[in-house]
Amino acid sequence: MSNVALEQIGAADFERFRSMFYRKTGIHFENSKRYFVDKRLHERMKATGHTSFKGYFTYMRFQASGEDQFEAMTREIMDELDSYRPAGEDLRIWSVPSSTGEEPYSIAIYLIEYWKGLAHRDVELISSDIDSNVLASAKKGLYSKRSVQNIPLPLVKKYFKEINGQFQLSDDIRESVSFTLANILSASNMKQFRHFDLIFCRNLLIYFDDESRKKAAQVLYDAMKPGGYIFLGHSESMSRISSMFKVRKFGDVIAYQKPLAGGA
Ligand SMILES: C[S@@+](CC[C@H](N)C(=O)[O-])C[C@H]1O[C@@H](n2cnc3c(N)ncnc32)[C@H](O)[C@@H]1O
Repeated sequence: MSNVALEQIGAADFERFRSMFYRKTGIHFENSKRYFVDKRLHERMKATGHTSFKGYFTYMRFQASGEDQFEAMTREIMDELDSYRPAGEDLRIWSVPSSTGEEPYSIAIYLIEYWKGLAHRDVELISSDIDSNVLASAKKGLYSKRSVQNIPLPLVKKYFKEINGQFQLSDDIRESVSFTLANILSASNMKQFRHFDLIFCRNLLIYFDDESRKKAAQVLYDAMKPGGYIFLGHSESMSRISSMFKVRKFGDVIAYQKPLAGGA
C-alpha cells in the first residue's frame, strides 16, 4: 500500500468533510488547519486501504452510521426496552445478516462496555446468515489487522488476542453470540425467530427486489415484540417498504418501532 499514490483532496471534498465533521462533533476546522486535516485524512486513507477520497468518505460514513446506531442502543433504546419488560425476562437481540460476525460482536462489546442495565438484565444475542461459510468464519472470530484498526486500542487489548498477526476475539465474546443458518425469505426457517426486542438488519434489503423487501419487512415485524426496534443500513429505509412501523429518531439515528399494543 505504501507505494500507491493517494489522491489529493480537492476543495469541494474538504468542504464536505468539514461540514460532516462539524455536524457530528461541533468542531470547525479553519482554513489554516487544512494542511493538518489533509495530512491526517491521507494517513487514514492509507491505513484503511483507500486511494480515493470519495471511497474513503463513503466508507467512513458507513462506519459512523453503525457506531451511531450502537450508541443510540446503549444510550437510550436498551433502557426503554428494559422498562417495558418484566423483571427476569431476557432482552433478545437479532443481528441479521451476520456476515463474518463484526456486527453481532460489536453489539456484544458495546453492551458490555456501555450499558449498565446488564447488571440486572440478561441479553440473548442471536445472529443469522444464509451463507454457512461466513457463519463458520464468524464463529471463529478471527480478524485481520486491517479489520481491527478502527477499534480503539484499549478495546483491542481487552477483547482480542493476537495470533500470528491476526486478532481473535476472546472466548467470552464469541460465546455470547449464537450463530444460526437461516434464510430470511424462507417461512419455515423464520418460524423459530420470534420475540425479539431489537433487530439489526443492515445491508440486506438493498439486495432484494420490491416483493422480497415487503416479504422481509413482514418477517421482521412478526419476529419482533410490540415496542421493539429495528435498525437498517444507512442507505435503507423501512418507510419506503412498509407503513407497519413507527419512525423514531435518536439524534441523527433513525430506528423503526413496532407499535406497542394500543399504539406506541
Ligand atoms: C453486505 S452483508 C451485510 C452484513 C452486515 N449486516 C453489515 O451490514 O455489515 C450481506 C449478507 O447478507 C447475507 N444474505 C443474503 N441473502 C440473505 C437471506 N435471504 N437471508 C439471510 N442472509 C442473507 C449474505 O450471505 C451476506 O453475508
